[in-house]
Amino acid sequence: MFDEYNFPAGAEFDDAAPTLQTFVYCSRAAEDIDDDAVGRIVESAQRRNLTRGITGVLVFGSGVFFQWIEGPPAQMKNLIAGLHADPRHYDIVSLDRSEENRERLYPNWEMERVEADSIIPVLHDALETAEDENNIAALKRILEHISAGPLNSLGRT
Ligand SMILES: Cc1cc2nc3c(=O)[nH]c(=O)nc-3n(C[C@H](O)[C@H](O)[C@H](O)COP(=O)(O)O)c2cc1C
Repeated sequence: MFDEYNFPAGAEFDDAAPTLQTFVYCSRAAEDIDDDAVGRIVESAQRRNLTRGITGVLVFGSGVFFQWIEGPPAQMKNLIAGLHADPRHYDIVSLDRSEENRERLYPNWEMERVEADSIIPVLHDALETAEDENNIAALKRILEHISAGPLNSLGRT
């Protein structure tokens, strides 16, 4: 009389979820990074991430980058090393790096341009929880840079 077997098979189990490494950071764009340079970073990141199973979001505004990336741990390790060696940005502050079995938060690759107003609260939050002295100093430098204005026109949408 009752259909006891009508459950979606395995839908609520996480066993099949892949191991994802997440890296979240903010950084300051180098002096010579203009709109075209950001376009080039995004274009090549999009192409490379697609072949490496990396997805996420890159936010840029007022000369500050904010990036959330997630993907297979081995691929992420290479990308993170590449990011740290990349002269197109500096004062890289790691806000989170973790590994979990879960579905992706950002299944696609996205790029957003934001105003300074959207970045400042994120940086203040990071500063409140930061413990590493280098990170605290870098976050303060980034906040000072944004507050010193005039607002970087590159960041405007
Ligand atoms: C703000 C910023 C974000 C970047 N995001 C990515 C990315 O998501 N994926 C990627 O492959 N490279 C990204 N890059 C480029 C990497 O830093 C690096 O140049 C690239 O991975 C090549 O590294 P390799 O020379 O060690 O192979 C980004 C660079 C910057 C400055």
